[in-house]
Amino acid sequence: MIELNKVGRMYRQGNREVHALKDISLMIGKGEFLSIMGPSGSGKSTLLNLMGGLDQATAGEVFMDGRPLHAISDNELTLIRRRRIGYIFQFFNLLPLLTAEENVGLPLLLDGLPFSEVRPKAAALLRQVGLHDRSEHRPEQLSGGEMQRVAIARALITGPAVILADEPTGNLDSHTSEEIFLLLRSLNEEGQTIVMVTHDPKAAAYGTRIITLKDGTLAEDMVIGETAS
Ligand SMILES: Nc1ncnc2c1ncn2[C@@H]1O[C@H](COP(=O)(O)OP(=O)(O)OP(=O)(O)O)[C@@H](O)[C@H]1O
Ligand SMILES: [Mg+2]
Repeated sequence: MIELNKVGRMYRQGNREVHALKDISLMIGKGEFLSIMGPSGSGKSTLLNLMGGLDQATAGEVFMDGRPLHAISDNELTLIRRRRIGYIFQFFNLLPLLTAEENVGLPLLLDGLPFSEVRPKAAALLRQVGLHDRSEHRPEQLSGGEMQRVAIARALITGPAVILADEPTGNLDSHTSEEIFLLLRSLNEEGQTIVMVTHDPKAAAYGTRIITLKDGTLAEDMVIGETAS
């Protein structure tokens, strides 16, 4: 599903080179729930952004569904990002003027589908994340955990090949965080492929596999659970 082949990401700062990632080779299969761990600055977000086509590798190859993200046009990349990948961010990134239902439907609306078609899909997903009675609320009328549920529903609406999450509970208390992890785990058990960055070993343990980065290299790769089929 996602394949990285000797991937590197170098930043140039003046005449200094910062190697955020070095020589990462990794295969992520369908149905995996991969947790990415490692200290601050070890390259976790950089790696996730490369997988999601939000950033370009400076060395090596990145394949998504067999398509070379390192060597396709911007238009093609935009479509893959919109249709094949669901993103969940630490700060939710919901649009403040839209209702929960409109936020969830946004990826399909941007893709040109009429609201009449999008609406029932958004409503079904809000039900799935336990927010069917919050569909008309705007983000400011929701709790942090509810906002992240809306963001998860939004990430799911295109039926993405993979969901990428960078510290999805970084702004939530421990109880609410646990609810979000349980939701992600149940989605994974239904077959959704997930890649999640986290600092927290307890959070990482919700995954089926944990990789650990150290100074931009892959230090550890451990399978801890069964891959959903
Ligand atoms: N735009 C940039 N320009 C220069 N260096 C960068 C840039 N973005 C990231 N880096 C460097 O790349 C390295 C990896 O950064 P990254 O954000 O991937 O770390 P991280 O593991 O996600 O850390 P954190 O846990 O703090 O979020 C860091 O040393 C960082 O300073
Ligand atoms: Mg980060």
